[in-house]
Amino acid sequence: MNDIIQKIEQKEEIVDAILDWYDLNARILPWRISPEAKIGGIVPDPYHVWLSEIMLQQTTVTAVIPYFEKFTKEWPTIQKLAVANLDDILTAWAGLGYYARARNLYKCAVFITQNLGGKFPETYDDLLQLPGIGKYTAAAISSIVYDTPETVIDGNVERVLSRIYNINVPLPSSRPIITDLAEQLTPSHRPGDYAQALMDIGATICKPKSLKCDSCPVKINCISRSLGTAQNLPMRVSKKKKPTRRGYAFWAEYDGKVWLRRRPEEGLLGGMMEVPSNEWAPSNSWNNIPPPRVPIIANWDILPGVVSHTFTHFNLELKIIRIELEEMINLQEGEWCAVKERDNYALPTVMKKIFSHVGEPLLDL
Ligand code: ADE
Repeated sequence: MNDIIQKIEQKEEIVDAILDWYDLNARILPWRISPEAKIGGIVPDPYHVWLSEIMLQQTTVTAVIPYFEKFTKEWPTIQKLAVANLDDILTAWAGLGYYARARNLYKCAVFITQNLGGKFPETYDDLLQLPGIGKYTAAAISSIVYDTPETVIDGNVERVLSRIYNINVPLPSSRPIITDLAEQLTPSHRPGDYAQALMDIGATICKPKSLKCDSCPVKINCISRSLGTAQNLPMRVSKKKKPTRRGYAFWAEYDGKVWLRRRPEEGLLGGMMEVPSNEWAPSNSWNNIPPPRVPIIANWDILPGVVSHTFTHFNLELKIIRIELEEMINLQEGEWCAVKERDNYALPTVMKKIFSHVGEPLLDL
């Protein structure tokens, strides 16, 4: 801790080095206004920053860019997003995961348009009141858009600070220490650029593995670098192994169409389309899974292999049971969907994997 107190005395040196680095190395991102452009008077668009920050939760910049571009082309303003069809938003979001975020995005757009005249609130506290905006996003928007000295802490920032200050308490217990350091470091001058710089350094230099310490603007201030411990930080308490759930999904096809149903609005993959399935039962082995309960009695085939997908709290394995029907009969709730139109349905990644698994001959994938 002594070291930490000493190092925080170098605050100005560290912040200046980070901002100087950002002036030369800021990543060019479609929602970002470069330091040069800001000097020229261009200001960040709150709609762009908000949209990108919601998309960037649990996802990388590289994965987000095409989604951001698709959204801003389709819905160039928050007012346009607020009058969109929620299902179109879910469809455009498909693949980004955590679908509750897309639903909150829509709720937030409607709220801002209907109640705030389409204008984003500027303060951290007001932003925090909005649907889907938590502490991280409120801090990011108020600092990046309005240059308010809020402290922005994401996984990148946690890693960079854990290393500069050689924090050898494992996450999550180290969070109060990291927050304290981060608050002390946050500058009142250019806080938005500083926050983005730390995130860029975390993503491109101070990476979880293959660290590029030689290129780091704060290498001379970094305690873990001098001690040779950087690679092992941040420490984490070992994670419990995720349980596996298993179940059967029913792929019924007729004349280029597949039977899909919509998931309940609340809960996992809420409101997204799915290939109907039996319960996803926690189990160590397929031997404990009850036999498939098919939606109609007919000649179903079981496809070889399983479709695997990782969710936040469990791994999923699905066996696919398939039938080609001779007539178009409805199977409980759901609808027939043209397979060729699959990109126009709100299909989450796990369901897209089922489409790929079924593959030829129905699908020309
Ligand atoms: N990750 C999340 N938000 C970011 C931002 N504004 N800049 C760079 N990386 C980010």
